Amino acid sequence: MVIAIDGPGGAGKSTVAARCAQLLALPHLDTGATYRAATVAALRCGADPGHPEAVLAAVMGAAIRYESGQVWLDGEDVTDATRSAEVAAAVSAVSAHPQVRRVIVDLQRAWVGAHGGAAVVEGRDIGTVVFPQASVKVFLTARPEIRAARRAAEEDPAALERRDRFDASRETSPLRPAADALVIDTSDLSVEEVVATVVGLVLEDGRQTSCD
Ligand code: DC
Repeated sequence: MVIAIDGPGGAGKSTVAARCAQLLALPHLDTGATYRAATVAALRCGADPGHPEAVLAAVMGAAIRYESGQVWLDGEDVTDATRSAEVAAAVSAVSAHPQVRRVIVDLQRAWVGAHGGAAVVEGRDIGTVVFPQASVKVFLTARPEIRAARRAAEEDPAALERRDRFDASRETSPLRPAADALVIDTSDLSVEEVVATVVGLVLEDGRQTSCD
């Protein structure tokens, strides 16, 4: 059972995913953190983020591990580094390379498998590409000014908008809702309201599955 939570930056994915995972007693995978760790690896190797071969070589040579919201690169906790402005500026370019995505998507699927096959997974392409068979798919959105305000402490609004536009227009696994995803505009909703909707979908899915 995978619960896929996709959407742009500042839509509320991380908060909602963490709370749903807690309520449902499921592990939570933030796939953005895995792309950010890949970006740290690329930058540390001096790879140009726009250069697929150089980025791929850096990522293939790196051991990325994710657990409970923290991320390690070759045994070093790089969680803080993944949240730097330098990484935010390069992560869209790094994650646009199809070969890099293949490696990182394998890691994400293996992570869910290693955690028993059931998890709350948040990202951009979880419902469309990584887990198209997910039991529940939601796509969170919010008005641009709301997303910018939520991310203000971490990222300049113009940079966030640029990143979202790039993520949504890339050729491989662009940011977009799956055809069977429920799209929720979180602009005027509380976290608990969004969480209640997602948990409601999970419980409904569980009831349907047990009656099949
Ligand atoms: O959620 P985040 O801001 O930490 O994500 C950082 C970047 O990683 C985002 O701009 C695009 C990329 N990403 C992706 O391409 N696919 C995902 N499933 C998750 C993130």
